[in-house]
Amino acid sequence: MTPQRDVDALASHYAYPDAGALRSNMVASIDGAISLDGRSKPISGESDWFLFGLQRALADVIVVGAGTARAEGYGPGRTRPEFAHLRNAAGQPSAPTLAIVTASGKLDPAANCFTGTARTTVITCRAAPAVHVDPLRAVADVIVSGGETVDLRGAIDVLRERGLRRILTEGGPSLLGALTSHDLIDELVASISPSLIGGDAPRMVVGAPETLRRLELVGVLEDEGTLFIHYRRARGAT
Ligand SMILES: NC(=O)c1ccc[n+]([C@@H]2O[C@H](COP(=O)([O-])OP(=O)(O)OC[C@H]3O[C@@H](n4cnc5c(N)ncnc54)[C@H](OP(=O)(O)O)[C@@H]3O)[C@@H](O)[C@H]2O)c1
Repeated sequence: MTPQRDVDALASHYAYPDAGALRSNMVASIDGAISLDGRSKPISGESDWFLFGLQRALADVIVVGAGTARAEGYGPGRTRPEFAHLRNAAGQPSAPTLAIVTASGKLDPAANCFTGTARTTVITCRAAPAVHVDPLRAVADVIVSGGETVDLRGAIDVLRERGLRRILTEGGPSLLGALTSHDLIDELVASISPSLIGGDAPRMVVGAPETLRRLELVGVLEDEGTLFIHYRRARGAT
């Protein structure tokens, strides 16, 4: 990556395929920890934060698990000023939609994530108690997909039907586990931070059955010692 972080070159490097894709973006230490003291921020750095913003700017929708939205105190979908022209050029609204996946519906309607100009989406299932979900309808678009847990394939189809084809998921590991179980992840973008953490923080994907899933490399960049790796599902992989 160039020191001046050429936004347009990076945007074309990370452009989504024309048909869209579901791309995950996570940061991890060299030893695979995705959090320190329950937060990802200590592992991240300025260059990771920059590319995190770029990934958001390229997306139509950011899909995140409720655990992450709660742990990281998520705000609404936003675009940093240096990336605003990319959305203009792509004919996208000024900010991506934020979509939060929850089975419990336990989200605070007064939380910061429901305060943006772009209306946040809540993706839930029929088992979510109305006492939790009904108040959310006043502050969010609610998609109900599935019974006991969210039918993620069905929910992703609904997002695509709404024209949201460039789908970015920022995890966390439980949501990525569920997406991996249903083979829904097309691309993985990860920042490998120059840090060694130990401990027992989770890996990027938790709870998916152990299966070898082949990936192919799309690109590698480096900035300030952080490696930015980009893989996609291998062609012809089962
Ligand atoms: N390093 C990174 O890049 C990164 C990125 C994201 C998160 N993290 C870290 O990951 C940790 C959070 O982990 P987590 O596993 O709890 O996060 P998570 O995957 O974001 O959240 C799990 C929650 O999401 C909902 N969910 C996930 N899959 C679902 C499904 N198929 N159907 C219905 N609901 C579903 C459930 O919410 P309900 O409980 O509401 O039902 C579930 O409890 C935090 O420490 C955070 O800092 C790190």
